Amino acid sequence: MREPVSGFSKKTKDKKIKWLADNYLSGQNDAVDILKKYWNSDKTLQKLHDDFIENTLSNYYLPFGIAPNFLINDQMFVIPMVIEESSVVAAASNAAKFWLDRGGFKAEVISTEKNGQIHFNFFGKESNINAFFDDVKPKLIESIEALQVNMKKRGGGLKDILLVNSTKKLNGYYQLHCTFETLDAMGANFINTCLEEIAKTFETQSKNYPAFIKENHFPEVVLSILSNYVPECLVRAEVSCPIENLSQKNIDGKTFAEKFVRAIEIAKAEPRRAVTHNKGIMNGIDAVVLATGNDFRAVEAGIHAYASKDGNYTSLTHAIIENNIFKFWIEIPLALGTVGGLTSLHPLVNFAFTILQKPNAKQLMEIVAVAGLAQNFAAVRSLVTTGIQKGHMKMHLMNMLNQLEASEEEKNKAVLYFKTNIISHSGVVNFIENLRK
Ligand code: MEV
Repeated sequence: MREPVSGFSKKTKDKKIKWLADNYLSGQNDAVDILKKYWNSDKTLQKLHDDFIENTLSNYYLPFGIAPNFLINDQMFVIPMVIEESSVVAAASNAAKFWLDRGGFKAEVISTEKNGQIHFNFFGKESNINAFFDDVKPKLIESIEALQVNMKKRGGGLKDILLVNSTKKLNGYYQLHCTFETLDAMGANFINTCLEEIAKTFETQSKNYPAFIKENHFPEVVLSILSNYVPECLVRAEVSCPIENLSQKNIDGKTFAEKFVRAIEIAKAEPRRAVTHNKGIMNGIDAVVLATGNDFRAVEAGIHAYASKDGNYTSLTHAIIENNIFKFWIEIPLALGTVGGLTSLHPLVNFAFTILQKPNAKQLMEIVAVAGLAQNFAAVRSLVTTGIQKGHMKMHLMNMLNQLEASEEEKNKAVLYFKTNIISHSGVVNFIENLRK
């Protein structure tokens, strides 16, 4: 049984590594060496990364790639993507190229409102909490004036506060539902700071409210936090073209369009398919969200909740054929920032914004939605034609060869051989073993 450690976060990085090696690695120096191998030789840069989180020991690399040829609202883009899955960037590039010749992507932001709640208990008379809220609302707004100065100057800030009676969901449960415009900031810190201040004022003021004193029932704040469910912060991206323009190598445009639409209908009808279908969309979305230093967990949580907003988990994309026109679109909630957080701090994030031509938050929402739509198009296109494994395994071949520590010559031979042969793990192992005999 190993001893717990106290004061770990206060130790130096070297001491933390030593403690880990002594206690969990039986002093294995090669395990420690791997940590050090991933340190950046630029000490200032390494320090910057060390300070992102607590107890940093090393850096964890993921590939940073680009998908070129995205025509979005008649403007060309190269999209930065950070992802470990071998076929994602290739699929995005493929879809970009496909739609480049067919009018490109159109995207528009529908709304940009974010929200947060102060969740509180109140077991007194509803009329008392209603009257108190009407009375205190101006004071709540006033209490965050200083916090809002800069945001308001730029045209953002708190939009409204509503009292929500949620006692039907849970006995004695009410909310202050606060809405915000945070412009180019994702806004999590701004919103949470405002909410905590509003909550403090709400509780303090309630202590002196005569009706509460008389009844001896006071509101009691449980917690205050932004919501990652942002259905009022919506973006839509779309592609469309005459069905005959969808003709490809072994399939005519009409058959392809019909099969494609059917695949989307299946994802709408069946949650088991919808989850995988949407996972494919998130391959594109997460990769851009990560490259641009945004919070992919928040985006994931919000988007999946949106996928089940009508009670059933369903496809995030939609497709129809109308008057011989194929139309394929996505509508998703996205709370993203192009300022604040890691955006100016992480040199590669900064770089990602530079290659994206320094978008504002609305433009980034459009780009990310397009990446999701493109990814889904590429996946469904493969699924209804060749199947997914052909392209996927082609991209994964290099990983398998690297795992087998293949030489350049072996790799070249394998790539040539598997151009015309089915790629499987055992097939690759056999091929390399035969070469080495
Ligand atoms: C794999 O990462 C993503 C897919 O499974 C998506 C899909 O099935 O639509 C190919």
